[in-house]
Amino acid sequence: MGRLIAVVNQKGGVGKTTTVVNLAAALAEAGRRVLAVDLDPQGSLTVWSGLEPDELAKTVYHGLVGPRRVRYDESRPVRAASQGTGAHSSTTLAYLSEDEDEDVSATDLILRTSLGYDLVPSNAELGLAEMDLVNMVARERRLVALMAPVRDSYDFIFLDCEPSLGLLTINALVAADEILIPVSCDFLAWRALEVLFKLVGRVRLELNSQLRLIGILPTMFDTRTRHSREILELLYGELGRELPVLQPPVHRSVRFQEAAQTGKSVIQYAPDTPGAAAYREIAKQLESCRPVRLSSRIWQAGRLPRAQSRQGQSVPS
Ligand SMILES: Nc1ncnc2c1ncn2[C@@H]1O[C@H](COP(=O)(O)OP(=O)(O)OP(=O)(O)O)[C@@H](O)[C@H]1O
Ligand SMILES: [Mg+2]
Repeated sequence: MGRLIAVVNQKGGVGKTTTVVNLAAALAEAGRRVLAVDLDPQGSLTVWSGLEPDELAKTVYHGLVGPRRVRYDESRPVRAASQGTGAHSSTTLAYLSEDEDEDVSATDLILRTSLGYDLVPSNAELGLAEMDLVNMVARERRLVALMAPVRDSYDFIFLDCEPSLGLLTINALVAADEILIPVSCDFLAWRALEVLFKLVGRVRLELNSQLRLIGILPTMFDTRTRHSREILELLYGELGRELPVLQPPVHRSVRFQEAAQTGKSVIQYAPDTPGAAAYREIAKQLESCRPVRLSSRIWQAGRLPRAQSRQGQSVPS
């Protein structure tokens, strides 16, 4: 059965989608069967993977809330996204299964991409899911049910979470075996970890006692700024004493934005850059790592180790 990994952080713009795309691509390159699930109404993973979210008839939304909401529009066939460069041409746009049966199963939603992994896409409609799920039975377990039939078909399934701690993220944390937490090397991202730890701690206690942590992944590390270096030190030093903090950090590089624009992973777009090397290395570690149980006091109290500010004063934590 494939490992189901939620890439999660309620802080926006810390590199969740970038991490999913590039780890999924690196593992696919190594011959693994990989599925990536876009759980964000922004649809960034879907766009990066070469699809135009607004033109998709079926998305993860329909899998989560049920068949009543599937609307076919056959006059508007799905086509590749064009982002100025028009480089997204080789993504396979036919659904792997076009079964119009009552149920919308995950296999009805899976698309092949030219980045090496399969994708369950998303679009803005997923924003309605919070509202629609609220009155549903077992609303935190909709994703568990959706993923169950496809778990044996993949070695790795990544869940790209939205930047919020709502029902979609809770569904991801309940469905996941493991979590991976990208954190950009800046102070507010560091502080935002506390809120995440509290939620994950509660989910572990109340909904998914088996949930494990692969690690914290420092992203957007900028060697040129003292601030970035200080936060990296906190991550490897203070936090690293209690939790796995993955090596190497992912450095800041414009190659990631360029790769997204061309609809390629950084592994394909700039294979010889430090960014590609970092994600390849983390992907290799994923295969052999032993995710830790969430039993430390950090997850119970949602407390970060005490951090020092730039002036050397203690920052309340
Ligand atoms: N290592 C990096 N260096 C430079 N830019 C990066 C890096 N990683 C990600 N980015 C860029 O930062 C922005 C945010 O990254 P990304 O979309 O992966 O974050 P996210 O956590 O998924 O965001 P959201 O919370 O909105 O879903 C994107 O423009 C992306 O291209
Ligand atoms: Mg994202």
